[in-house]
Amino acid sequence: MIKAVIFDLDGVLVTTDELHFKAWKRLAEELDITGFTKDDNARQRGVSRMASLEVVLEKTDRKFSDEEKLTLAEKKNDMYVKSLESLDKSAVLDGVFDFIAYLRSSGIKTAVGSASKNTPLILEKTDLADKFDAVSCGLDTQKSKPDPEVFLIAAQKIGIAPSECVVIEDSDAGIEAAKAGGMYAVAVGEAENNSKADISVSSLGSLYRTIEMFGR
Ligand code: BG6
Ligand code: MG
Repeated sequence: MIKAVIFDLDGVLVTTDELHFKAWKRLAEELDITGFTKDDNARQRGVSRMASLEVVLEKTDRKFSDEEKLTLAEKKNDMYVKSLESLDKSAVLDGVFDFIAYLRSSGIKTAVGSASKNTPLILEKTDLADKFDAVSCGLDTQKSKPDPEVFLIAAQKIGIAPSECVVIEDSDAGIEAAKAGGMYAVAVGEAENNSKADISVSSLGSLYRTIEMFGR
C-alpha cells in the first residue's frame, strides 16, 4: 500500500532547471568552454553540484585541482542563487499545489528528495515550505543520485517503509535511485521515456487531472 510520495524538486515541483542551465552556461563561457549544450545539461539533471560541474569540465582538456573545483562550483552557485532572487510561487509547476493537497487530504505523507542544497530556500520562496512532512536534500546526504540515499533519508524522516513510498522524478539518475531504494518510481517531464520507471506521465498536472476524473 502506498503511504507516502517523495517529490524531486528541480523540474518536478519547480521550473528551476533553466536557471541551473543558465548559470552553468555562464560558468562555461567564463572558462572559454564553448560546446556546453542542453544535451550536456540533461546529464546534470538530478545529480549533485560537484557531479554537475564535472559535466562542464569534461568539455575542456584543462585540469583543475579539488580546491579550484570547489571555487568554480561556488561561483556557479552564487550566479544561480542570484537568479533565484525573483523566484516566487509562479515557478511552481502545473498541478503541484492541487496534487499535494489531494495527497494530504487522503492521509498520504509528502516529502521532498532533492540533490539541491538550495532546497530550503526554494521551498520558502515558492510557498511550498509548509506543504511537506519532511525534506531530504543535498544538505543531508553524502552520495549523489543514482544512489538512493536522499530518498531513504526522506522515508526515514517520515517513518514510512521504502516499499510503501512513491518517488516522482524527472531525471534518469533519480528514477534509478528510487528503484535502487526499493520504491515505486513515477517518471515525469524529461524522464517520461525512462523504461525503468513504474509509470510515466507528462506532468503532475496530467496525473492529478486523471486521478480527479476517477473521483467524480
Ligand atoms: C538537482 C539538479 O536537483 O540539484 C541538478 O537537477 C543540480 O542539476 C543539483 O546540480 C544540485 O543543486 P544545488 O542547488 O545544490 O547546486
Ligand atoms: Mg529534477
